[in-house]
Amino acid sequence: MQSSVQRHLQRLWHGSDERWKFFRQWLRHPRATAAISPSGPHLVRSMIAEMPADARRVIELGPGTGVMTRAILARGVKPDDLLLVELNPEMCQYMHNAFPTLRVCCADARELVSKCLDSGFSDGGAADVVLSSLGLLSMPRDLQTGILKAAFDSLGPDGCFIQFTYGPACPVPREVLDELGLHATRGATVLRNVPPATVFVFRRNRSRAIVPRSTRC
Ligand SMILES: C[S@@+](CC[C@H](N)C(=O)[O-])C[C@H]1O[C@@H](n2cnc3c(N)ncnc32)[C@H](O)[C@@H]1O
Repeated sequence: MQSSVQRHLQRLWHGSDERWKFFRQWLRHPRATAAISPSGPHLVRSMIAEMPADARRVIELGPGTGVMTRAILARGVKPDDLLLVELNPEMCQYMHNAFPTLRVCCADARELVSKCLDSGFSDGGAADVVLSSLGLLSMPRDLQTGILKAAFDSLGPDGCFIQFTYGPACPVPREVLDELGLHATRGATVLRNVPPATVFVFRRNRSRAIVPRSTRC
């Protein structure tokens, strides 16, 4: 016979609470999930604050259980102008259920260009912002490069890539930035997040080593 503690734990384990869903995914896929709980409100605000005032079309990488997604929508981005790309099928299903009107692609962020086309997102033009919660810092260099390349191939000429990282240092090494013709600007450091995090914004250098797909011959 089960004790009440066991029953309580089982209810939590199988329950619908967003934090528990997130924690269970971390237990199953610690490397890809990269955090034990969703980002806190201070970090979410600091990420959204980096979006340029006129940004209209947004791609979110790694929405997880949707804390950033809700804030992007609250910032005024229309559901049609938002594309979500999430690797974990269970998180994707959760997002489909929670946001039935949004485009949710269950895919690796490196497939972003084809997902923009297949989902119809690119019919509305290039993205202004890619907002990423991926654990870039712990990724191997070729994976980082592939993700950043796909992101800048999906962005317009002045588009930016907004990323947070746990700790104070830029999550992308100088060699990768140089290879892709990018530079990074440090945003807010958010101590009131578990763990503390820093926001970085990546843009093309003026020479634009990564020419956006839309303007290539
Ligand atoms: C740190 S969690 C962030 C979740 C949520 N955005 C938040 O801030 O709470 C990282 C998310 O990125 C997803 N992810 C990891 N690697 C990915 C990849 N290569 N392509 C797309 N999503 C990925 C994970 O499944 C996870 O949902």
